Amino acid sequence: MEPFTYRADRLYCEETLLEPIAARFGTPAYVYSRSAIIGNWEAFDRGLGAFPHLISYSVKANSNVQILRILREAGSGFDVVSGGELARALKAGGEPGRIVFSGAGKTAPEIDDALAAGILMFNVESSGELELIEARARALGKIAGVSLRINPDVEAETHPYIATGRAIHKFGIPKTDAIALYRRAADSPVLRVRGVACHIGSQILEAAPFLRALDEIVEVARTLDAGGVPVEHLDLGGGYGIRYEDERPMDIARLSQSIAQKLATARLTLILEPGRAIVGNAGILLTRVLFLKRNAEKNFVIVDAGMNDLLRPALYGSYHRIAPAERRAGGKFVADVVGPLCETGDFLARDRELPDVRPGDLLAVMTAGAYGFVLASNYNSRLRPAEVLVHGAEFSLIRRRETLDDLLDAETVRG
Ligand code: LLP
Repeated sequence: MEPFTYRADRLYCEETLLEPIAARFGTPAYVYSRSAIIGNWEAFDRGLGAFPHLISYSVKANSNVQILRILREAGSGFDVVSGGELARALKAGGEPGRIVFSGAGKTAPEIDDALAAGILMFNVESSGELELIEARARALGKIAGVSLRINPDVEAETHPYIATGRAIHKFGIPKTDAIALYRRAADSPVLRVRGVACHIGSQILEAAPFLRALDEIVEVARTLDAGGVPVEHLDLGGGYGIRYEDERPMDIARLSQSIAQKLATARLTLILEPGRAIVGNAGILLTRVLFLKRNAEKNFVIVDAGMNDLLRPALYGSYHRIAPAERRAGGKFVADVVGPLCETGDFLARDRELPDVRPGDLLAVMTAGAYGFVLASNYNSRLRPAEVLVHGAEFSLIRRRETLDDLLDAETVRG
């Protein structure tokens, strides 16, 4: 569904105009559509139909507790990668039995917190990590559920920074080493082998790499089964791509059905860890035009949001559509849309054809719901933006804009 639409040349989120949100909470501000988040989650859930499954939303994409709460109410589990994300998932009322803990560098305190909470499983990425989890489980008198994250050596076309499934990447364990490690886990009285996991990258638009990766982990599960180490879960990870510009992403319902068909005879629960596909198109970044500027070569639209608020264009060269909150008839022009930070990398769009915009206009940077606020920083001592949730014709603040006290309080000043 498309939650942001124009009516009479004014941009709405669901039934709510954007201008009153900016007037009330200021800019820059992230704005999210509640129904888009739920609709996106349900597309995965419905696609898998009666096949046993768990959709564990990947918290890293957008970790606002209120958003996690909405997803939990829809029936979601959570994929977390740090003690902080675990705390958020639990604060949102997440069921520990539906939480998986991924990530290549888990620490002892994080493992302890997850064991204390009683999560479903750790997706283990190295033999060292398996040993540490075993030691912590022993020390705490707990049983740790584990999956090994297999590196399936599958090529998936995406930005090199977010491809993870090839043998050259730091992620996962080669298939050839996995069986021996599983055996060690199975022999431990404090480890319980729960599944086989993988994750091949992010913003992947084709279904084929997922189906290939699935074949790889199914094969591992079969080998384990034959060797007397049965598993109950297959975790295919996240990475389902969305449209930012003119991409043609796979249809989630169809992908889910292909997966369910492939696994039809297996007695397994499938776990998916989508992040971007749940929240990406459900959010925008609202920003106001401060100045128009022209130098010898270029036009610039200087806005009040920058790379500290939305890092994706600077970090990955990502494209985000830019839409005026109010369309007016006027000539188009080409400009860079840039923020106030002192870096040339501080841009939201480059050489972009824009409608007639003027200082004071409100702009929406589209498809910013995933990896937007979570990547925001205080660089240049800027305060991180507010976050607002729209539900029909209503909106509410789900994270207040930071204050100067937030900025300064954690620092120790002597004298
Ligand atoms: N599971 C694991 C183990 C992951 O590493 C990730 C993402 C996901 C699930 C969720 O992937 P998604 O469905 O959101 O694609 N900052 C980058 C994206 C980094 C993705 C990292 N891992 C960006 O802004 O494009």
